[in-house]
Amino acid sequence: MLNIAVLISGNGTNLQALIDAEKSGKLTFGKITLVVSSNKDACGLTRALKHGIKTEVVEKKTCVNDDEFDKLVLTKLLENNIDIVVLAGFLPILGQQVINQFERRIINIHPSLIPSFCGPGFYGLKVHQAALKKGVKITGATVHFVNEIPDDGEIIMQKAVPVLDGDTPETLQKRVMEEAEWKILPEAVELICKEYSQKDNRIEIKTLPEILKNNSYPGRGIVIGITPDSKHAVIAYFIMGRSINSRNRVFVEDGEGIRTEAHDPSKMTDPSLIIYSPVQVLGDYTIVTNGDQTDTIYDYINAGKTFEQALNTRSFEPDEPNFTPRISGLLNRNERNYKLSILKSNNGNPKSTLRFYFNYQNPLPGQGHFIHTYKKDGSPLPSFEGEPIAVLIDNDIDVFTCEIWDSLDFENKVSLFVRYINLSSGEYITRIINKNA
Ligand code: GAR
Repeated sequence: MLNIAVLISGNGTNLQALIDAEKSGKLTFGKITLVVSSNKDACGLTRALKHGIKTEVVEKKTCVNDDEFDKLVLTKLLENNIDIVVLAGFLPILGQQVINQFERRIINIHPSLIPSFCGPGFYGLKVHQAALKKGVKITGATVHFVNEIPDDGEIIMQKAVPVLDGDTPETLQKRVMEEAEWKILPEAVELICKEYSQKDNRIEIKTLPEILKNNSYPGRGIVIGITPDSKHAVIAYFIMGRSINSRNRVFVEDGEGIRTEAHDPSKMTDPSLIIYSPVQVLGDYTIVTNGDQTDTIYDYINAGKTFEQALNTRSFEPDEPNFTPRISGLLNRNERNYKLSILKSNNGNPKSTLRFYFNYQNPLPGQGHFIHTYKKDGSPLPSFEGEPIAVLIDNDIDVFTCEIWDSLDFENKVSLFVRYINLSSGEYITRIINKNA
């Protein structure tokens, strides 16, 4: 069963049509599990509560800007594991973050035959006023997918309704609702849910705080991705430590990259494996790793060879019994793609290396991938398992930096590097946080 969220702003008669369809067995692939209202006084909220459906209110006027509103709506949808989003008289325009995340999974009901009387400013009664003013003899309703342009997405269903002599905007609205909207909206929801169920393409994308807050020791971590507005590539690298030697570090800028340095040189007992250049830049490439394999990758790419060829010469770290994985990432700004890799020991065997390479082509806006060295704290430390985790990226470097830094375990975190690279110009901005600062 898919989870359906219905977004409303007012009366909620279309929501009621969906509730009725569900009750009479006409929605067989999904269930309405959430109603989000952009208005705390919307009558539709009462309809939801009456039927035991969870409600949330997200009001634009309480948000600092459209981005924050969008993010809040997205959070509500993700927290409730929503699969399909139905806009039923929802007045705010949804932003890119929600649209990207729910591509072809958001539908809207509009009270006209699109492309007539639609787009910015055409909502509710205004649509019918415009239809009467133009003198059309037929109007109707349209259900369509939602994209970044209001009322522009692919049409799913339409139904025509006659305009009668003497119609007022109110009488016309009533007829369009009764004869078209309340009929085609439940049918379209059933159709989309059916298609989506059969695709079996559900992916769950989490925020970094959701992942990090439950893990006191992910070790070292790399995130690479693209901002929701597609303007920047994002690279983040953090280090954590348990020993005094490992915690005694800071990130310092070094050319276009960074290196690790002892915060208090007198406390440094063994520099091997902990002093290195995590980030280096080579033309359009940015390399990020948790060890001196940054240099190996740099040298190989400089010699016209590949990321994989470089890492095939390397293995996990020799720090028995943990055998810390070597994690690496490579961003190609010009080609707008990135790679990640992990080299890890095969079940604690000192000789057998497992090599994994992940290649992200045409990455999706607003999404990144996160790989870290340890699955969790332990003794010996268990290596990361599985595919890099899909994570949400923020448009704002400071929001994203805080999100990561605040989610890392207070005792274990050491340093964080975040860089936003303008995909067109290559110019970048960097944030570095050192606990030892
Ligand atoms: C409906 O007529 C819907 O088609 C329209 O708002 C009304 C909401 O009624 N939507 C738009 O105009 C979107 N541009 P409801 O709250 O009773 O369902």
